[in-house]
Amino acid sequence: MGAARLEAALHHAYMAGFKAFVALLPFRWPLVFEGPGSVGALCRHIAQVGHRRVLVVTDPELLRKGVVAPVVTDLEQQGIEVVQYNGIVTEPSVTQVEAGLAVQQEMDGQAILALGGGSVLDAAKLIAARARNHRSVAELTGLLRVRRGMLPLYAAPTTAGSGSEVTVGAVVRDDTRQVGKRAAMDLRLLPRAAALDAHLMTGLPPYWTAITGLDALSHAVEAYLSRNATRQTDHDAREAVRLVSGNLEAAWRQGKDLEARQALARGAHLAGRACTVAGIGYAHAIAHQVGPWCGRPHGEVVAATLPLVLEAYRSAGEGRLAQLADPVGVGDSGAPAAALIRRLHEFNRLFGIPDAFEGLGQADLPALARAACAEVRWTYAVPRYLDLAQVREIMSRLQPVERPAGLANREGTANGPRCP
Ligand SMILES: [Fe+2]
Repeated sequence: MGAARLEAALHHAYMAGFKAFVALLPFRWPLVFEGPGSVGALCRHIAQVGHRRVLVVTDPELLRKGVVAPVVTDLEQQGIEVVQYNGIVTEPSVTQVEAGLAVQQEMDGQAILALGGGSVLDAAKLIAARARNHRSVAELTGLLRVRRGMLPLYAAPTTAGSGSEVTVGAVVRDDTRQVGKRAAMDLRLLPRAAALDAHLMTGLPPYWTAITGLDALSHAVEAYLSRNATRQTDHDAREAVRLVSGNLEAAWRQGKDLEARQALARGAHLAGRACTVAGIGYAHAIAHQVGPWCGRPHGEVVAATLPLVLEAYRSAGEGRLAQLADPVGVGDSGAPAAALIRRLHEFNRLFGIPDAFEGLGQADLPALARAACAEVRWTYAVPRYLDLAQVREIMSRLQPVERPAGLANREGTANGPRCP
């Protein structure tokens, strides 16, 4: 057996052991309130639990759009004293977490309501964990380091993408030590309850609707292809694929389509639950390198990468991939796996996802590919381990080719908006 095949066999054996370990973990999934207006039910629940002082963690854009005020009013009508911390922006930092913690300590809050996208939810998890653990974000980084639990956390996502309301991870930039990202993974980071409320999502611009939705789709697809998938994650992932692929275009075209928004919210939630247990794969590992390197939003890069990774899996993931063709609505094809990949490319073209990223140079590929492979190793139960050359080849397909001068940027490409 060659060295590469031996290493792959060891990875698979290790990940099989990891699957058995995860099966023993006592997941306590959040209580979910669902439907347009369900954030009101979440506020009543927070009051019924007995919290009287609540910190609302959110971002300045949601404040400006008027999303925050009605939720604060809902809480206050329940007799809850509310203090807001509106300082979380895209790619949240340790400094923002510390500032939120200072507000929390000042008010002596009894619980936190995170109102926002994945960035807000991740930062709020760390504020809540910091409040109970007296450990720095650096000390909370890693696996199972949130030993003393956290302040009760409630979540009202305003995007249908990350599924952070149902994941055990929180990622922030460490702007204090220049070490890049810090990721904490702990069952205790799960919120106690969440509201999947389409009303909170109607103001999300079309491009952000698309890239957050495609991120959710990628969570579901990568979880489904994982060797650590279970019967439950299969069910969640298939349903997530059906809901997201069937409703994303409608929500993208008409942001106030509550039915489509609600379906996306549920899809993103189920996808988040599936990948919490089964894990993700190369599309994410590659996007985690290329996105920050090129300064592009996560959902955009992962959407561009996913079909390329699925093509590289070929026979290894083909059977499982074919099973997802039906939920995507292309199951009638004689070659369902190929039809599914084609559908993903069509989505990308429809929504204006770039197929290449400025700043990704030939000389950058070796280090970025090594980092992507290192992320997968001992972490993701991918259907097939790709070698360094294969990952470099995928990344090279994301490099820009010379375009005629004056070609206009599409919305969301190089000079477009950033991820919420
Ligand atoms: Fe993602």
